[in-house]
Amino acid sequence: MKIAVLAGDGIGTEIVAEAVKVLKALDLKMEMESALVGGVAYDAFGHPLPPATLALAKASDAILFGAVGDWKYDKLERQFRPEQAILGLRKELGLFANFRPAICYEELVDASSLKPEIIAGLDILIIRELTGDIYFGQPRGRRIATDGHFPGSEEAFDTMRYSRPEIERIAHVAFDAALKRKASGGAGRVTSVDKNNVLETSQLWKDVMVEIGQQYPDILLDHMLVDNAAMQLVKEPKKFDVVVTGNMFGDILSDEASMLTGSIGMLPSASLNSSNQGLYEPSHGSAPDIAGKGIANPLATILSAAMMLRFSLGQADAALRIEAAVKAVLAKGLRTADIYGKGGAGITKVSTLEMGNAVVAALIAPAK
Ligand code: IPM
Ligand code: MG
Repeated sequence: MKIAVLAGDGIGTEIVAEAVKVLKALDLKMEMESALVGGVAYDAFGHPLPPATLALAKASDAILFGAVGDWKYDKLERQFRPEQAILGLRKELGLFANFRPAICYEELVDASSLKPEIIAGLDILIIRELTGDIYFGQPRGRRIATDGHFPGSEEAFDTMRYSRPEIERIAHVAFDAALKRKASGGAGRVTSVDKNNVLETSQLWKDVMVEIGQQYPDILLDHMLVDNAAMQLVKEPKKFDVVVTGNMFGDILSDEASMLTGSIGMLPSASLNSSNQGLYEPSHGSAPDIAGKGIANPLATILSAAMMLRFSLGQADAALRIEAAVKAVLAKGLRTADIYGKGGAGITKVSTLEMGNAVVAALIAPAK
């Protein structure tokens, strides 16, 4: 098992260090190799995704990714911005299927800004198509920056496009996921989110979803317009089971869904290609405003490492051990600042490092 460790920028290094610590504590046979990515790679090599980093990623079974981005790169030409590293990895490795589960841990019900009864027991899965849509339309990178000025930028455009095979393969991923969840008590439902009342890409999306859905008679397929989905997600999130949507809508809806779990610091993600090679990263960004302060929540990254063990490395037992350890530290009342809420008796505020150490300790001595 070979894992590429790409921590990136901002809080990336701090949170990935904790996830690596947890992985090492499992005592499995795995080789980990680190490389620079994002703004730090641009500073060192003049490119956010240097050839050596891409080669390492391609040669690995899985990639543990932190986060990229910092305001200080905002004025760079787009192709050199840190975000291009993650987009490049997704495209180069064909990581088209993005899993973003939103699970509300009982202990964190009060950390969310929503009423407890709305989110208690929530367990939904957002599946976002990750290598198509307006993110990879034509033309890209048209603007040339000179000192932050973009000549000729009085008009700009990005093209939204999807092809039938791209929609078909993500549809299968969603229906298969719903089947799997149904086997362990899931509702057996896929909600496909689009904007077919306005967009042609969405009409194709919906047509293909309906077609593929016919191959899955045990799964109920429904359709929702994206604006309504954004509303329903906060109104009655537990009505959802699996949500499948395109790249742009999925980006937005998954951030929204993260708050249903209490904090975006809790939301892991997996991005897979057709050979189950995967990139695992927290759904949150590099948070440069809190970088270096030791207060970031490492749990989304630690839970991403668990997804990595399950999806790409065939180590489902180890994944369960990590997830149980995370539940145990939450039950013990340990909270990073983002999930501290109002605090209270038995609740202790901990640093990034302390949270990582606590997960390791819970792994070694599981609660009875
Ligand atoms: C995400 C992020 C990325 C995206 C950015 C960093 C390019 O927001 O993974 O959700 O838009 O996909
Ligand atoms: Mg996003």
